[in-house]
Amino acid sequence: MAEVVIVPTPAAAGELVADEIVRLVRTRPDAVLGLATGSTPLPVYTALRPRLTGVDVSRVRGFALDEYVGIDPRHPESYRSVITREVVEPLGLDPDRIRTPDGSLDGIEHAGEDYETAIAAAGGVDLQLLGIGTSGHIGFNEPGSSFASRTRVKTLIEQTRADNARFFDSIDDVPRHCITQGLGTILDARHLFLLAFGEGKADAVAGAVEGPVTSSLPGSAIQLHPHVTVVVDEAAASRLRNADYYRYAFAHKPAWQGF
Ligand code: F6R
Repeated sequence: MAEVVIVPTPAAAGELVADEIVRLVRTRPDAVLGLATGSTPLPVYTALRPRLTGVDVSRVRGFALDEYVGIDPRHPESYRSVITREVVEPLGLDPDRIRTPDGSLDGIEHAGEDYETAIAAAGGVDLQLLGIGTSGHIGFNEPGSSFASRTRVKTLIEQTRADNARFFDSIDDVPRHCITQGLGTILDARHLFLLAFGEGKADAVAGAVEGPVTSSLPGSAIQLHPHVTVVVDEAAASRLRNADYYRYAFAHKPAWQGF
């Protein structure tokens, strides 16, 4: 079962996860981080900045979950640009060690396989950050995605395009296709941190944590992973049947246990 931690605010979630990332980088300076984009991981990146002062991050490696297909990588909302702006530059990471899937049309047929090869060559992902879409997607694995899937091109559902239209001038500018790590790729990471905030994520969180394991709710794939920490605010936790138990377990967590 995933460990579920219910926190008062997204900032508190960011601090908790950032502490864990700093612990990892201190013990493993060439740690491989799995990076997410969108709004959810921003409190983590914000909390990391002061915490990484004085920590050697020159060897940290990273792989983003996904990228839009056909978007100019210099477009401000390409995930390459977002990762550069929100993660690489503020945290002082080496841009050559941080990769996003290549969404350019030229070579898209083998871009997924290339990305898988690069992740494997890095020794796999140590700590994977995940948000969850209102459709229950993780990465851009929309409902119906195979639990065995690897990095590949997917078609975004209209709900996801509507959810992400806030980053673009209009929904017409939101690409229809993406290249995303598969559920199988994500499940290979050694530790998953799934974060969610706000009422709009409550159904997806309840389905992912307590619902049946089904490709109709791709986030439920986390139930197959041996080491998952779900960090949610009260609103996103509001439909968890066992919320009181999660609170109780966290309040009585043995000090030696860590995450
Ligand atoms: C982003 C990603 C997506 C988002 C999800 C939630 O790299 O893979 O799964 O995590 O769409 O988006 P936000 O955080 O903007 O609500």
